[in-house]
Amino acid sequence: MEPPQETRRRLQEVGQAQLLRFWDELSPAGREALLGELRLLETGELRDHCRRAEEAYARESGSPQRLGERMMPLPAECVGSVSRSDREELIRWEEEGFHQISQNKVAVLLLAGGQGTRLGVTYPKGMYSVVLPSGKTLYQIQAERILKVQQLASEKQSSRCTVPWYIMTSEFTLRPTQKFFEEHKYFSLEKSDVIMFEQRMLPAVGFNGKAILERKDKLAMAPDGNGGLYRALSENRILEDMESRGISYIHVYCVDNILVKMADPVFIGFCVSKGAECGAKVVEKAYPAEPVGVVCQVDNVYQVVEYSEISVETAEKRNHDGTLAYNTGNICNHFFTLEFLKTVAGTLEPRLDYHIAIKKVPYVDEEGNLVKPVRANGIKMEKFVFDVFQFAKNFVAFEVLREEEFSPLKNADAADKDTPTTARRSLLWQHYRWAQRAGARFVDGNGCQIPENQSISEMEDPPAVCEISPLVSYFGEGLEAYLKNKDVPCPFILDENTAKGLCV
Ligand code: UD1
Repeated sequence: MEPPQETRRRLQEVGQAQLLRFWDELSPAGREALLGELRLLETGELRDHCRRAEEAYARESGSPQRLGERMMPLPAECVGSVSRSDREELIRWEEEGFHQISQNKVAVLLLAGGQGTRLGVTYPKGMYSVVLPSGKTLYQIQAERILKVQQLASEKQSSRCTVPWYIMTSEFTLRPTQKFFEEHKYFSLEKSDVIMFEQRMLPAVGFNGKAILERKDKLAMAPDGNGGLYRALSENRILEDMESRGISYIHVYCVDNILVKMADPVFIGFCVSKGAECGAKVVEKAYPAEPVGVVCQVDNVYQVVEYSEISVETAEKRNHDGTLAYNTGNICNHFFTLEFLKTVAGTLEPRLDYHIAIKKVPYVDEEGNLVKPVRANGIKMEKFVFDVFQFAKNFVAFEVLREEEFSPLKNADAADKDTPTTARRSLLWQHYRWAQRAGARFVDGNGCQIPENQSISEMEDPPAVCEISPLVSYFGEGLEAYLKNKDVPCPFILDENTAKGLCV
């Protein structure tokens, strides 16, 4: 069977006929698969995509633009902060957030289309367990935090409320994520309130501007970046779904932060009180080269300059008092109003620039052998979720405490940062602090009290291992009822069952 004339002609016209190079050798199924993939790519878009990739690559390897000169730190008036606000103010924001949640106006949206390459697992990151005493996965922890925040908000207004959970997946993550949620009965959430949708994939392009074949019958494709969100929202009619549920505010977050506060009432309340259409949570950067984006202004509009794009010189710039000039580290927790998302998805999305990533892309060579390159050979094009900040008329940033809200899982345990071990420790330290504050006395196997050891750093395990289920406490609240003046053995899991025993 000849490739359909039309397909061949189309590809020749846009200089991509190499994609049919192995046509004669393909089985009928292989031919069908390849044609199916090509049919999904509009030829004009394929041409533009490859041209853009080639040009962007040429630009990047030439003289880089002096981004540092165009950057400015955020104006102080648009930055709120947990540590610099008084208690009353924080409570007011929290009340506002709970109020919006109780009115069914808040949704959470998870960006989960990434491939988790650095962590090195073949399944979606949310399914990962950092080996907590309970064995819970990231997805389970997140689901339980939604259940709890719903319960807390419902109690405040004495009426049941729902926080729908939108999950953006990609070709790599959709099916395993669906299966995982089915197997775990949606962690007791209503299935209809967990809405999964898929982002687009884009071809990887060689340095010569040609799309790459990863098999004789398959193009090398990658998700279009977490900024693929906006297109995916339109294509999957997600904003219509939100509208039909009466949602006004959306908390967008990335999958790998074990401390993520789902639908955080304080953050939502802060953003709503400030009348913001768009907001970002930030933490103080731990060190200049930390791999987090910097929330700032570029050419007077709000932007995040990604860690891969900031120069060492700019990252290391300091104020007179010695603090980093660009200190507002992006933790990929964003707030959007539905109206803002509608404008972005409706009209502004095409104006978002692509960022390029130079990667090693496995490919088939001229002779049809599969090659795993040792050097980067391909360009992947991605949009970034925060690139819409530039369109916000009213943007705010909210600085939170790292030890309470940010501990991402990026790397396997061989690395020294952002690993399963560091994520597990962050959570256990947080729960240890909560338990201590609630008045728990930790005891060892002989009933002897385990002393608080001030000299232990959080690079090690806490003196007592205690894991608190999000179903018992969302953010440390309400623990006195179970722990005040109680002898707590360790390791200890405070979940709904053990809590019942402690309450009597
Ligand atoms: C991201 C942020 C960075 C921030 C850091 C904090 C972006 C572009 N960068 O960096 O500024 O400091 O988190 O941890 O947001 N994803 C998709 N589809 C894709 C690619 C990624 O949904 O095509 C999702 C991932 O599943 C993940 C999130 O986006 O949940 C962030 O992606 P990741 O690649 O982990 O971003 P980082 O480089 O760590």
